Formats: sequence, structure tokens, C-alpha cells
Amino acid sequence: MQRMPNAIQLTDLSPDELVGLYAYPAGPAAPYIRVNFVTSIDGAVSVDGRSGGLGTPADKRVFGLLRSLADVIVVGAGTARAENYGAAHTDSTLRTRLWHHGFGGDPDGAAPRVAVVTSSAALDPTSRLFTDTGARPIVITTSAAPAENKRALAEAGAQVIEAGEATVSADRLRDALAELRLRRVLCEGGPALFGDLITAGAVDELCLTVSPMLVAGTERRIAVSPNAMPTPMHCRHLVFAEDGTILTRWERSHTR
Ligand SMILES: NC(=O)c1ccc[n+]([C@@H]2O[C@H](COP(=O)([O-])OP(=O)(O)OC[C@H]3O[C@@H](n4cnc5c(N)ncnc54)[C@H](OP(=O)(O)O)[C@@H]3O)[C@@H](O)[C@H]2O)c1
Repeated sequence: MQRMPNAIQLTDLSPDELVGLYAYPAGPAAPYIRVNFVTSIDGAVSVDGRSGGLGTPADKRVFGLLRSLADVIVVGAGTARAENYGAAHTDSTLRTRLWHHGFGGDPDGAAPRVAVVTSSAALDPTSRLFTDTGARPIVITTSAAPAENKRALAEAGAQVIEAGEATVSADRLRDALAELRLRRVLCEGGPALFGDLITAGAVDELCLTVSPMLVAGTERRIAVSPNAMPTPMHCRHLVFAEDGTILTRWERSHTR
């Protein structure tokens, strides 16, 4: 039987206590895949094609903290395009402090890298991802992706890694990240990549914000895949913000 999770008011938490709620497991030996999403109460993953319409101050605070804790931010190409992804800009003092407490972060305060997963490598080399100042972007793609796409992204400064023939499997993704010694993984979606990770049994945890609104429309849910893969999870915490936002953390019940 699962124990009741801690239900906490955000206003009762000090900044350090909030960090403690989201710390990665100490010293992961292999990539630990944390996924972060925000959803409306009725399950929409976006408003007019972007997640920004769902964000609340509490969600933005945790979104930033999760980035500060991570070694790498992994996103599907659909999200990188829709959200016009750039480099991650984190607070270097906080990153260093997190590192010294063993929570994540970086010893030198360097920002986490951004890795985009794409079958096609059809990303715009003039987009923010490649022109923003910050850590060198990573493109994790396939041998089937057109060579000219891969060349253009490498010339734009990306580290281009082939990790699969037609698609990037979860195992190949983990191997690629392990090779780069990027173990505290924060996957920021989107639904197609998350669906692939769930069906591969590769999700270690989900941080899910429920935004206090209904959306309706034709928006998608947070995970989609051709086949279902029921995956038991248990709740680590529920944090309630004053505006009705609910911050949750779910861990896979049987970790590998
Ligand atoms: N609410 C939230 O927290 C949140 C978070 C993230 C995204 N979103 C929303 O989700 C929407 C985007 O959805 P989406 O399903 O297009 O997102 P996605 O999963 O980010 O992108 C799908 C694309 O990513 C690549 N991809 C995904 N898995 C792959 C794999 N295993 N191997 C190789 N390539 C893979 C493919 O790119 P190629 O086509 O280049 O091959 C695929 O077409 C946007 O509206 C965004 O705002 C919301």
C-alpha cells in the first residue's frame, strides 16, 4: 500500500526546503530521467500550441529550479520548434551551491546543456538554439537523417550525435547521455518524446504541475504513443500554491 504523500503549502517552504523536495538522487551512476510538464486541470498540454499559457508563478519557479539542478535538458524537436528553444540560462551561484550540497547543479556554475532529439535533424541552424550564447547544444539524431541537415547543425555549433537508424530509442538516448557523463537528465517533453520514454520503461520520475484552469479545445495530453504502457508511479509530494497551482512529483515504483 502506498503511504499518503506529503501535502505542503508552498508558502510554508523555505527556498532550501523546496530545493530538497526536488533534489536528484545522490550521485546517479547512470542517466536518471526526470520529466517535467505543466497541464491544465482538463489535461491540455498547451494553449494555442504553446505551454506558456499554462504557466503560473509557482510553475515557473519550479521549472527554473529543475533546470538549475540538471546536467542536461532534453527535448523533442517539436517542442524545440514550437517553443523556440534557446540555451538554458541558470544562476551560476545557485548551480555551484546545489553542487556542493550534492543535489545536482555544477561545480563551476556552468549552465546545463540542451539536447534536442530529432529523427530528421530538420532544425533551423539560424534558430535561437544555435545562436543563443550559452552551453553548446546537442542534437541527438539518426543515421537516416539527411547528411546535409546534420552538417548544417554541426557548422552552426551543435554537437551532433547519431543514436539510432530511423528513430532514437530510449536506450540509445541514455547511452549517448551516459557517454557525455550527463546523468541528471531533465526532459521537458514534448508529448511524443515522453510517450516514447514511457513505452520504453525509461522514465524515472515525473514532475507535473497542474495549472488551475480549464482549456478544452483540441490540445493534446502530456504523453502520446502508438501503444499504451501502464507504468505504476508513486507520489513523492504535493505542493499547493496560493493561486491554486498544484506541484507534484511522481517516482516510478520499481526503479531499474
Ligand atoms: N505543457 C508542457 O509542459 C509542454 C512541454 C513540452 C511541450 N509542450 C507542447 O507540446 C507540443 C509539441 O508536441 P510534440 O509531440 O511535437 O513534441 P515533441 O515530442 O517535442 O516533438 C516530436 C518530434 O520530436 C522528435 N522526436 C520525438 N521523439 C523522438 C524519438 N524517439 N526519436 C527521434 N525523434 C524524436 C521528432 O522530431 P523530427 O520531426 O524532427 O524527427 C518528432 O517529430 C507543443 O505545443 C509544446 O508547446 C508542452
